[in-house]
Amino acid sequence: MSGDLEPGLSRELVASQFDGRLGGGRAATLRKGRRPMVTTDEHLNEYEQDTALRARAARVLPGGMYGHQSAARLPEGFPQFFSHGEGSHIWDVDGNEYIDYMCSYGPIVLGHRHPGVERAVAAQAAEGDCFNAPTERIVELAELMTGLIGHGDWAWFAKNGSDATRFALQVARAHTGRSTALRGERAYHGWGSTWMSGAAGMTPADAGFQLPYTYNDLASVRAAADAAGDDLAAVVVSAVEYDASGNWTLPDQPFVRGVRDLCDATGAVLVLDDVRAGFRLDLGGSWASYGVEPDVSAYCKAIANGYPLAGVVARRELEEAAGRFFATGSYWFSAIAMAASIATITTLQETDGVAHIGRAGTLLREGLDAQAHAHGTAIRQSGPVQVPALSFLGDDPASMEVPRAMMFTSEAAKRGVYLHPTHNWFLSTAHSDEDIERTLAVTDVAFARVKEAFGDG
Ligand SMILES: Cc1ncc(COP(=O)(O)O)c(C=O)c1O
Repeated sequence: MSGDLEPGLSRELVASQFDGRLGGGRAATLRKGRRPMVTTDEHLNEYEQDTALRARAARVLPGGMYGHQSAARLPEGFPQFFSHGEGSHIWDVDGNEYIDYMCSYGPIVLGHRHPGVERAVAAQAAEGDCFNAPTERIVELAELMTGLIGHGDWAWFAKNGSDATRFALQVARAHTGRSTALRGERAYHGWGSTWMSGAAGMTPADAGFQLPYTYNDLASVRAAADAAGDDLAAVVVSAVEYDASGNWTLPDQPFVRGVRDLCDATGAVLVLDDVRAGFRLDLGGSWASYGVEPDVSAYCKAIANGYPLAGVVARRELEEAAGRFFATGSYWFSAIAMAASIATITTLQETDGVAHIGRAGTLLREGLDAQAHAHGTAIRQSGPVQVPALSFLGDDPASMEVPRAMMFTSEAAKRGVYLHPTHNWFLSTAHSDEDIERTLAVTDVAFARVKEAFGDG
């Protein structure tokens, strides 16, 4: 009987993944000992409800959907609507189940509906969420974060990463009394006019007072700083950035040291955008292992396991500037997200969550490398294993011409593994060895399909 299963997919594993979760059809098929759906075209996902919802959405939402989920950006086989999640798994509105490697584009760091976080949320909800002023959770959370992050003397909270990066830059400008910020030429720091200069609907003035540099190229930072002259307010650096050749990359040590020295020499503020990688790479901040501290850091994604919260931590010297301008939002002080954040960060601390995420990410990366090699498919894996990225050398990720990645992720989605063709992926503490093993059974098929279609892999 075991010969009926694909290599690497034990009957116990299949049973543990499917029992009690699938409808009778698929479960019955597996019990009969036939091949699991992941390796055939017989049991691919179906998207009836999703299609119906898309038609309704097309009438009432701009373009049918916006942002990452706009239909034009999703490969075939990607549902647009989900219904629920548990741990590392999510279900779409048609009941199709996926192992989730996007983690809601980052916020889900402990898995969906983590019991400890949900308990903290329920306890806070029983007291209330949104008052005229914050609850004591804001002080507890600020104490927790400043206790963990070396340069954190005070903390500030809002809702989205864009709030945090914008606030950090405004603090830097208020502190220095200068205007010009240096930023990575391909960096994404949020959707607002501060960062998206040149986008439709922005004015030429929105592009003002910013100069680009090339990530990991200290000479380009120095040249931009020279151009800014005595108006240099801030150097903004992403903890992980997309480089010109399509790699997701961490900064190297000389670059980190060099921007720190440059800021010290010029009086500019060093802003770390840790929205994407923060609390996945290191609880002390994504630069902790470099032995170099920024002046201010922006956080969001992983700090509250999916509850809406952004945070900034900064050095004492910047506190006075933060008090010199008015900043608030209707929901910035709501207590539930802060309670969720305290539970999330405490759980990461107590369970060595970062190490677990790293281990799962390493297993996935090694498995994908071995498969690509076996198929003779040329891929590049980049970025830290906790926020990994995969691209095909035959594609051109820098210009978003990625037919191989589109096919690979589409074939995976139709078989119950949710990846992304161009964005980096996210691992969580909920990803188990079994998840990775089952994922690799699917990606093996996806690699084979890409190879069949493109020859070069
Ligand atoms: C590095 C970085 N900075 C800022 C942001 C903006 O965060 P948000 O979408 O929560 O506004 C993002 C979002 O993906 C990000 O990756």
